[in-house]
Amino acid sequence: MMKKRILSLLLAASMVFGLTACGSSGSAAHSAKKRIVRISHAQSEKHPEHIGLLAFQKYVQQHLGDKYDVQIFPNGILGDAQKAIELTQTGAIDFVVAGTANLETFTKVYEIFSIPYLFTSMDAYKAMMGDSSYMSNIYKSTDSAGFRVLTWYNAGTRNFYATKPIKTPDDLKGLKLRVQQSPASVNMIKAFGAAATPMSFGEVYTAIQQGVINGAENNELALTDNKHGEVAKYFSYDMHQMVPDMLVGNLKFLESLSPEEQKVFEDAAAESTKVELQEWDKQVDAAKKTAKEKMGVHFMNVDVSAFQKKVLPLQKQILQGNPSIQAIYQHIQEINQKYKKG
Ligand code: GCU
Repeated sequence: MMKKRILSLLLAASMVFGLTACGSSGSAAHSAKKRIVRISHAQSEKHPEHIGLLAFQKYVQQHLGDKYDVQIFPNGILGDAQKAIELTQTGAIDFVVAGTANLETFTKVYEIFSIPYLFTSMDAYKAMMGDSSYMSNIYKSTDSAGFRVLTWYNAGTRNFYATKPIKTPDDLKGLKLRVQQSPASVNMIKAFGAAATPMSFGEVYTAIQQGVINGAENNELALTDNKHGEVAKYFSYDMHQMVPDMLVGNLKFLESLSPEEQKVFEDAAAESTKVELQEWDKQVDAAKKTAKEKMGVHFMNVDVSAFQKKVLPLQKQILQGNPSIQAIYQHIQEINQKYKKG
């Protein structure tokens, strides 16, 4: 496969040159001194995260352009999320953007975001994620896994979409739905009464098209940017999760930077989030319009509390099984309270 070839060429090059492009001859000598910094992500080049990463690249270029050459690899060409996280752990690449659901199998703390209906409003979610001093403790807690998160990106709310309408939780019974490779999300689908089929994001379109699954769950951009709206025409706003994406860095690379350089990378990350959040809001509105008008997708507002009831017992279950997230859960309850409507 093409992806595998690109990946093995890249890895072979890393082994020959170390992680630095250190060719010595001819006109390439000057640029070859730069340390190449590779970022992998699985979205398209139009996606808000890619646009955010371009801002990251620009910031590093402006401040440390003589030393570092940031290269972005979109569309999962270096591997799907799970593979790219492993590559970031070992240092074969330096950064990956991955959803916390995909990080869950590497470090249990990120299970927190897979808890269904964890946040009671988008405002509460954004307040938590935007509190960088609180989040930095979570980000650092994965050091033992060999990586550290630098920042987060908004990926909206996750909702069911399928080849037939899901209006009530009963409509989920017997459906085969794709979930992310996250044990907590698999349990959530089971609690909803559907059959969970974990697979990587890139496989979803064909799986729906071929009838291997009846649908999936995601944000609105999956319909347009990933074209799932071509094969699944019913999208239900049950809003079961808000799962952020994370910019994850290889710890050894981050620790190899001087304090001044670390600051540049941190500021670049903060800048990328600012850009991504703005772009997200713009693109979600546009995606809804396109999905509705051009792809014929029906958006349905459902009784969220009926869906909530099905999976609330799971909250306790997940918490009991994972002491590392109990304090974070409490903290989120306080934020939820603060942003309660009415
Ligand atoms: C969204 C999210 C990704 C995630 C994907 C998925 O696109 O931004 O991080 O991997 O959903 O469902 O796999």
